[in-house]
Amino acid sequence: MEFLKIAVIGGGTMGNGIAHVFSLKEFETYLVEINSELLDKAIKNIGENMNRQVKKEVISAEQKESALKRIKPTVGLENIPADVDLVIEAIYENRDAKLKIFSELEKRIKPDAIFATNTSSISITELSVVCRADRFIGMHFMNPVPVMKLVEIIRGYSTSDSTFNAIKDLALNLDKVPVEVYDYPGFISNRILMPMINEAVFALMEGVAKAEDIDQVMKLGMNHPMGPLTLADFIGLDVCLAIMEVLYQGFNDPKYRPCPLLKKMVAAKKLGRKTGEGFYKY
Ligand code: NAI
Repeated sequence: MEFLKIAVIGGGTMGNGIAHVFSLKEFETYLVEINSELLDKAIKNIGENMNRQVKKEVISAEQKESALKRIKPTVGLENIPADVDLVIEAIYENRDAKLKIFSELEKRIKPDAIFATNTSSISITELSVVCRADRFIGMHFMNPVPVMKLVEIIRGYSTSDSTFNAIKDLALNLDKVPVEVYDYPGFISNRILMPMINEAVFALMEGVAKAEDIDQVMKLGMNHPMGPLTLADFIGLDVCLAIMEVLYQGFNDPKYRPCPLLKKMVAAKKLGRKTGEGFYKY
């Protein structure tokens, strides 16, 4: 399958990164937001991130200019052209909101287009039931998208082989490294990462060590580039908690129970970098 026109729904952290990489690879990229202020902000972010790449000589100034021209700012789902070949949804992590988007798109977008979601934890199979389930797939990029190589490609229950192969080839074309994953809670990345972060929070709660020392052990002892508590602050403690809840409910297994300290910090709005305080102060 040939992809020429793509639509990215949501211009937040992930959506603007996804539009960034597609536009640089010469795809006509419709970036969709709910209003023009958020669109302007997303496009400004993309421009700034591309400037950084120009400075580092990863791309040329000409590449940047032509990529930005290929991004078509679009307000509202109703303004996405019906003949896009691929839709990638990257709105906030909410099952009902995502279901609503896919059922609306199903009515408008050409039947042979592929629908993908960048969800980090919601079941691909559950999202696929309101639309073309055989042409529905998870395309889970990592943050920051222009830098991180991995894309988890998640097959829902009904995802066809041709859809999987087309998306895998597309990821390779974006210079990413695709990994095939089946649809179970947390996929691979968050199923392994989040329990590690959660365990670090338990260790902190039980007074096993101070936050700095827990991070130091994992950095120097395990060669992780960032300690788990620093990483949790970066991801957002609310996001970590939401993913632990998905694992806990999805597997019905107490080993995934979210740490009470994590819950308490989310209730206190100590969400990490985005609120100025989490396990550390910013
Ligand atoms: P975000 O909150 O930064 O951005 C979401 C954007 O979607 C907002 O700008 C919002 O205005 C827009 N939006 C909401 N409803 C919309 C609609 N109906 N039409 C168009 N735009 C709409 O969220 P973020 O962090 O970019 O996450 C997006 C998705 O990616 C989530 O499913 C998340 O779980 C997943 N994800 C996030 C990662 C991260 O590190 N932030 C990493 C990997 C996946």
